Amino acid sequence: MTREFDVIVVGELNVDLIFNQVNGFPEVGKEILSDHMTLTLGSSSAICASNLSSLGLKVAFIGKIGNDIFGQFVIDKLNRSGVDTSMLMIDENLKTGATVALSYGEDRAMITHQGAMSHLGLDDIDEGQLLRGKHLHFSSYFFQPGFKNNVHRLFEMAKNVGITTSLDVQWDPAETWELNLNQVLPFVDVFIPNEVELKKLTGLPNVNRAIESIKNISRFVVVKCGSSGSVMYYDNKEVRLNPFVNKEVVDTIGAGDSFNAGFISKFIKGATPEECQEFGNLIGAISTTQAGGTGAFKNLEGIMEIARNRFNYQE
Ligand SMILES: Nc1ncnc2c1ncn2[C@@H]1O[C@H](COP(=O)(O)OP(=O)(O)OP(=O)(O)O)[C@@H](O)[C@H]1O
Ligand SMILES: [Mg+2]
Repeated sequence: MTREFDVIVVGELNVDLIFNQVNGFPEVGKEILSDHMTLTLGSSSAICASNLSSLGLKVAFIGKIGNDIFGQFVIDKLNRSGVDTSMLMIDENLKTGATVALSYGEDRAMITHQGAMSHLGLDDIDEGQLLRGKHLHFSSYFFQPGFKNNVHRLFEMAKNVGITTSLDVQWDPAETWELNLNQVLPFVDVFIPNEVELKKLTGLPNVNRAIESIKNISRFVVVKCGSSGSVMYYDNKEVRLNPFVNKEVVDTIGAGDSFNAGFISKFIKGATPEECQEFGNLIGAISTTQAGGTGAFKNLEGIMEIARNRFNYQE
């Protein structure tokens, strides 16, 4: 058996069509103009996969798209960043998911058609696929109804084939926050929510109490705290780490997915938990130096140059 991939990412795939400099707000029966438009690879899971690959890891993606031009775009973008797409499922009857975002200053109004992403489920994945990797990363639970109430079985499958695992649930657009952490976290090595998500998931108003309520279920609880850095809990100890300060943030899109990529890239190489956390913070901060979630991640050399020049990071 060859573990040909360092990381297998299971998750949602979509394109983002972003309109900038929009002249007003859309209204039924009227038309407005936008001075700029960008079509990019969307989805948290894809940003993480792409950045893991740019960090030099061998990455494969398992996801579902339609047989359409957006699906081709997704495949092309993933391939260009070195992500293996041979396990992607193309469904003739479904459309590739798409988000249209209207950008107003720092905020956005968005509309999403989930399409094929919401049809990926446990039955699409088998042990043979997971056996090809060393680590499973799963993201965006609430955007993938195919895994509702059974995502723990995916993680259990990963554990049965002897690979390590990480989970970032991301936001719940319906704000139900229905996920049984006690069921899934025993199979998760690294649980990586952000602080708001963790509070919502546990129903506790305070991050420390939220961590307290789930500590020791997964091996590592790693909580992302935006411009305050991150907090990690493992082996009965808590490690708070300040961020790498970026005084000129371009945007914070994908900072969390980039943090995941940084943490996981060190984790699968057997680095210490503190090294993983520091590298997560670094890669999260690097993401904020360019537009979008993948803009700063061309290749390892370029990434480490930003690390040295902007953040004084020494390997
Ligand atoms: N303004 C910033 N300056 C420096 N570092 C940052 C900044 N914002 C985020 N980071 C780094 O990136 C990490 C992840 O960011 P954040 O906490 O925003 O994740 P998230 O909420 O999951 O993001 P996402 O919207 O991508 O899902 C932080 O823990 C921090 O280390
Ligand atoms: Mg996030």
